[in-house]
Amino acid sequence: MSYLLRVSVSLRGEKSWSLKLRDEFTEQFLALHPGVEVRDRHTFPIPHLSLVEMVAGQTRVADQTPEQVAAFALGNELSEEVLNASAIVISTPMNNWGPPSSLKAWFDRIINAKTYYREIPAFKGIPITFIVASGGIFSFSDTTKHDHLRPLLVECVTRLGADDYMFVNCDPTIPLDAKELASDAPESGYLRAQREIPPAAARIRQ
Ligand SMILES: Cc1cc2nc3c(=O)[nH]c(=O)nc-3n(C[C@H](O)[C@H](O)[C@H](O)COP(=O)(O)O)c2cc1C
Repeated sequence: MSYLLRVSVSLRGEKSWSLKLRDEFTEQFLALHPGVEVRDRHTFPIPHLSLVEMVAGQTRVADQTPEQVAAFALGNELSEEVLNASAIVISTPMNNWGPPSSLKAWFDRIINAKTYYREIPAFKGIPITFIVASGGIFSFSDTTKHDHLRPLLVECVTRLGADDYMFVNCDPTIPLDAKELASDAPESGYLRAQREIPPAAARIRQ
């Protein structure tokens, strides 16, 4: 089964700019790739790693004790979900100049002995799209040096062999939330982000 894995982070529901863009991305992706299914993973319920889960994740699967196999169950499920995806879209807010902690918890589960030490790297050939929303401007201008989110996202996926990643940048969202700026105004960060979707949605694993 071929599927688009949507990793979603925002808790703001219909108010969320990253989720709105995720939905527009999905619509365009499915129009271009009919028959592909959608699989959703929200990061909010993913707990921080306990010690036993941490050790299990760092242990090669063949060497795991039965207790470690059990402790690795969620890590394994999340990893398999990534390994078998035809494309991945990760939509996230910026929180305190970096990733929301639940997105970090997701990365802490999917980067493990199973995904890290592979002949064929885990993310090789899987198109990844990052949709990033932030209250202020961080994707361009002299504030980019304070952006610790995008560099972390790139580091995490390229360490797992990603060779095809793109960004859809929605910033600043403060004037949109405050209704000082319409989302379709020429200077809107949302409008700019919408224009970044078509080339990103065209990609699928070959
Ligand atoms: C705890 C918290 C921390 C935040 N930190 C930042 C930040 O460092 N920089 C920024 O530009 N916006 C920050 N924001 C604002 C969000 O990035 C912004 O509201 C974004 O649009 C949320 O994504 P969403 O619209 O998809 O829900 C923060 C919001 C919260 C709740």
